[in-house]
Amino acid sequence: MQSLSSICSLPEVARTPVGAEVYRGLTGLPKTLSPWLFYDERGSELFEAITELPEYYLTRTERAIFTTYADEILDAAADRKRVKMIELGAGTATKTGLLLEAAVRRQETVDYLAIDVSESALAAAQQRIESEIPGVNVISRIGDYTEGIEEIPAAGQRRMALYIGSSIGNFEPSDAVQVLRELRRRLVPGDKLLLGADRVKERSVLLRAYDDAAGVTAAFNQNVLTRINRELGANFNLRLFRHRARWNHEHSRIEMHLESLIAQHVAIPALDLEIKFGRGETIHTENSYKFTASSISSIVERAGFAMTRCWTDEHEWFGVYLATAV
Ligand code: TRP
Repeated sequence: MQSLSSICSLPEVARTPVGAEVYRGLTGLPKTLSPWLFYDERGSELFEAITELPEYYLTRTERAIFTTYADEILDAAADRKRVKMIELGAGTATKTGLLLEAAVRRQETVDYLAIDVSESALAAAQQRIESEIPGVNVISRIGDYTEGIEEIPAAGQRRMALYIGSSIGNFEPSDAVQVLRELRRRLVPGDKLLLGADRVKERSVLLRAYDDAAGVTAAFNQNVLTRINRELGANFNLRLFRHRARWNHEHSRIEMHLESLIAQHVAIPALDLEIKFGRGETIHTENSYKFTASSISSIVERAGFAMTRCWTDEHEWFGVYLATAV
């Protein structure tokens, strides 16, 4: 006979972050899984590989914008003051180096606060930047977004918060406003936000960026199932779930899904669950919103910033926006 407690309560594992998220996401309808589940060790490696794919124009294009305009960006951000840089979701901070070099050209030394959830990425970034760009004083904080940026700037300093890589596009627009509002709360009027955001463009270009020929994005998406198999003892058969990238015109976003190729059941023993999938049913794993100059301005302004300037590439595929806290 089942004990009362096993009927009334979920297994312990359902209270761990991964267990709780998988429980929430796969028992709901439509099925979803939160993107943070992607980033186990293998997922982080695959993500780095995505940024180097020929089809994935975002990283390359944003880097090209920084290469051309870094000095201009720093001048525009500084208002003739010394700039102090803060990066949300710094990761390995490879593109940031271009801005840090420009800051060092301008003012000889620069303080750079790097915030990320990945301790290993931060440690690598700190080491590389300190050895490659003398003059940069790196401080790293492990945490989510705005943690650790609270301290009031010394007089005569301008803080510039970087939020690049179109990470803002991975939130629903209302959440994107919240994230930037939270950041704004920790800044003072005049401080700057430098935001990198992908632009709406031809559908085929967008789709290829999220469904590359080598299958790296597919492997990245499917890795979430491997993780659930490993951490929760599930029996997802990766050959029976296909990576799908879709353009949702109405919401102006790329969606990533995992599509069940047949009607099937998947067991997740650690959660005491058996999940039923219809043929063609999907798990929605990620959104990547694409913006126009006006849709991104609206988000930035609702968060308490004024749009100050923007830079783009020759195809106008990617936008780098400088906004001022009001
Ligand atoms: N923010 C980037 C983008 O939306 C990077 C990214 C986040 C990404 N999750 C992803 C890229 C999943 C590919 C697949 O493009």
